[in-house]
Amino acid sequence: MSSSRFASLLFLLTFAFLLQAAFGVNPIFHFCSNTGNFSAYDPYEGKLNKLTCYLSFQAPPSGFGLGSTGQTPNQAYGLALCRGDVSTPDCQTCVVEAGNEIGKLCPSNKGAIIWYDNCLLKYSDTEFFGQIDNKSMFYLWNGRVVSDPQSFNQKTKELLSQLAHEAYATPKLYATGETELYGSPKLYGLTQCTRDLSSSDCKKCLDGIIGKLPSCCDGQEGGRVVGGSCNFRYEIYPFVKA
Ligand SMILES: *[C@@H]1O[C@H](CO)[C@@H](O)[C@H](O)[C@H]1NC(C)=O
Ligand SMILES: *[C@@H]1O[C@H](CO)[C@@H](O)[C@H](O)[C@H]1NC(C)=O
Repeated sequence: MSSSRFASLLFLLTFAFLLQAAFGVNPIFHFCSNTGNFSAYDPYEGKLNKLTCYLSFQAPPSGFGLGSTGQTPNQAYGLALCRGDVSTPDCQTCVVEAGNEIGKLCPSNKGAIIWYDNCLLKYSDTEFFGQIDNKSMFYLWNGRVVSDPQSFNQKTKELLSQLAHEAYATPKLYATGETELYGSPKLYGLTQCTRDLSSSDCKKCLDGIIGKLPSCCDGQEGGRVVGGSCNFRYEIYPFVKA
């Protein structure tokens, strides 16, 4: 990644983090793809609207949906994923909101991705199903540093690696768990992949982002690496519904 892109990413991250702190339901982050634009009255726009509408019905019951609308050159591909513990109504609320919001944030981009705590929505004019998306990726970190970073980092890595191992073996490609810390609080973690990935690619994706722990979250009390195909989160408090 170029240094200017990295600098702007850091800026955006700080901004996103502040936003998130201020309003829980706002998107955490988004990217507008620079692969192509559409103009006013472009048929692609209609296909995109149809797609996001379709996903807002298709995804909620199982927590994952995928589909395409239109035909080349006006074909739109998309997927929506809700966090594994999110209820069907909350999933639907999130995907609907994501569709509305991304349309405002990336009004003429043929591709885009947006993340909330409860869901992600991604679309593109090129087919991307089953491919690990390492390009759309961002970090969030807590800002509070633990007193014993070395052992904490080790515990974090162990927990997330364990959860990566569990997630890829489940149909939902999702796992949560906790571990004891030396001292009082527990450490809670989550790993999840989009379900267009094969289970072995899910594992690769998770191993890849866990490898980013030192650059993301060194000694941080909580953190996340969030990509277009997989993400993890850890905190010293429980953050998913049982
Ligand atoms: C798409 O539009 C944005 C501004 O709306 C512009 O900056 C960008 O260069 C355009 N990209 C393409 C591929 O046309
Ligand atoms: C990106 O994708 C490959 C698989 O093609 C994976 O093995 C790699 O670790 C991924 N993750 C990162 C963060 O680079």
